[in-house]
Amino acid sequence: MRTKFKQVRGRRPNQPVDEAAKDFQAKDGKLAAGVPLAEILSHKLTNSPELVVRDNGGSFIAEKFRRLKSLLSVEDGLNPQVMVVTSAAPGEGKSLVAMNLALAFGASKDERSLVIDADLRRPTLFRWLSPSPNIGLAELISQDLDPKHAILHIKDTRLDILPAGKATEDPDQLLGSNRLRDLMEQFRGRYKKIVIDTPPIVPFTDADIIAGTSDGVLLITRAGRTTISLMRQAESLVQGAPLLGIVLNDQKRTLADWEGRYESYYKDYYARDRKQ
Ligand SMILES: Nc1ncnc2c1ncn2[C@@H]1O[C@H](COP(=O)(O)OP(=O)(O)O)[C@@H](O)[C@H]1O
Ligand SMILES: [Mg+2]
Repeated sequence: MRTKFKQVRGRRPNQPVDEAAKDFQAKDGKLAAGVPLAEILSHKLTNSPELVVRDNGGSFIAEKFRRLKSLLSVEDGLNPQVMVVTSAAPGEGKSLVAMNLALAFGASKDERSLVIDADLRRPTLFRWLSPSPNIGLAELISQDLDPKHAILHIKDTRLDILPAGKATEDPDQLLGSNRLRDLMEQFRGRYKKIVIDTPPIVPFTDADIIAGTSDGVLLITRAGRTTISLMRQAESLVQGAPLLGIVLNDQKRTLADWEGRYESYYKDYYARDRKQ
């Protein structure tokens, strides 16, 4: 299934995606199985710890990631086992979303999940690992190593992580190799959910190449930064797997409203309950 959003007339293509978010509507009725555009992650995530799902699990932001996880786990929906996280440009929050979403999956008691740093151009996920790993996906592919030499476990979770390994300017060949396909098959047998962080899809083909081994792609947009035309360009480049949905990250304006609205909704709801 491809998820398309139609645009209400009068919106400029260079307008940031968040200003037009309310005007996007799903054409496809099956969108409920995916993630709607309005899945908003709040601004100033970094005021909380970056790994908010693990380090501040009770927060509103962590709850957003758990909701994203639920939307991607609907049994009779798309329910992807392997999902690629990408976006149009650098700095839109791919790595942050990939890691926290993976942590949300990794909170499940019974089965293990895996997060892979497949941004071989500018590896990021190692920033959350100490000591810094020196082998990863790049070496598993190029040197045919056993994955157990590179996969690490994240303490107090059911999440494993495969770092990127040595950065390279030209990862297309590595990512297009049969070895990557073999590795993904092995991982599918071992993990319930696999989240893959990738480079931006507009300048580079890496994300779409990896998408070919996945069940779907989650596109991240950043409020105030990603324009509608850039989002559409990114959307059109997702060919290797279905688009699962679009996440609007770093929304500034309406979050307070949202939180306020939720809070009063819950208060009302419980107050009503008590009266009965
Ligand atoms: N919602 C947010 N609130 C605050 N900072 C954010 C948010 N999303 C991302 N960032 C910050 O922006 C920077 C880029 O995020 P990152 O996930 O590395 O982007 P990408 O992987 O798309 O290049 C990081 O410093 C990250 O902490
Ligand atoms: Mg990144």
